[in-house]
Amino acid sequence: MKSIVSLAACATVLLCVTIPGQERESVVGHKKLIAHRGASAYAPEHTLASYRLAIAQGADYVEQDLAVTRDGVLICLHDDSLERTTNVEELFPSRGTIDASTGRQRWLAVDFTLAELKRLDAGSWFDATFASERIPTWEEAVAAVGTAAGLYPELKSPPLYRERGIDMTRLFVDSLRRLNLAAAPAERLVVQSFDPRALRDVTAALPRLARTLLIDPWNGTRWLSPEGLQEAGTFASDLGPGKALLDGRPEVVRMAHEAGLTVTPYTFTTRAPGRISDVTEEMRYYLYDLGVDAVFTDNPDRFPREASAGR
Ligand code: G3P
Ligand code: CA
Repeated sequence: MKSIVSLAACATVLLCVTIPGQERESVVGHKKLIAHRGASAYAPEHTLASYRLAIAQGADYVEQDLAVTRDGVLICLHDDSLERTTNVEELFPSRGTIDASTGRQRWLAVDFTLAELKRLDAGSWFDATFASERIPTWEEAVAAVGTAAGLYPELKSPPLYRERGIDMTRLFVDSLRRLNLAAAPAERLVVQSFDPRALRDVTAALPRLARTLLIDPWNGTRWLSPEGLQEAGTFASDLGPGKALLDGRPEVVRMAHEAGLTVTPYTFTTRAPGRISDVTEEMRYYLYDLGVDAVFTDNPDRFPREASAGR
């Protein structure tokens, strides 16, 4: 019975995995490259320039971190607030609020309308040549990526929006219905979140979508046991751990595969070298030695498509 259930679940995962006792055909037959915030080592994260460069560099998927504006529009932004990647302090100096945990001012995206956010320069913080870049809406990102690559949206900080009475998951599900993506196959769209509740809600609304449960060293240990992985498999098809959680631990990848989950660690980047300082070699270790199925990287051009590529 378990094998039959696993077989059915496998039809919707990003990459099929080997179920003990059953030879399975892959939905997609090779390792996957997810461009983290676009080609964000070379262009400002979450701009259309970054997404287009990622496609030019051969990304299989382009990632979008999602936030919500005051008027309920999904936009592409990693941080909850705007000051790191835009000139919001300059344009709206009196609109900051104090972050109780740090005591510092911040400019939350949810406190601004889309029209206000569209006035911000989202590129100059990275390089002056990108000064014309604007924060894209999720729907603009979908249009820009088109069918040149898959989409990999993350529901970022759902609890922040719940506190304000905003159901981010419902906004997302509604957008997928509008965009005719509600039954998108895994090759076209994978939704991700650190928030299990958000993924459970997506599962209830759109059970055919592929879903990545993100984990980090702080919430990860709960999930990295056979029981935890079985539970994760009830609402996710893929596990997205911080890469340090897997380093030197091929048994974790094997356990996840045995639970019917593919594995997609983050983040591989030249901007913060890991234990293996060459990013191509680092990705190669995770993909071909540890056996993960895909990686998030800021450097799509450095992805080792085959085990021996670039050697
Ligand atoms: O979504 C995978 C990875 O991007 C998670 O980390 O903080 O870059 O969204 P973060
Ligand atoms: Ca992300």
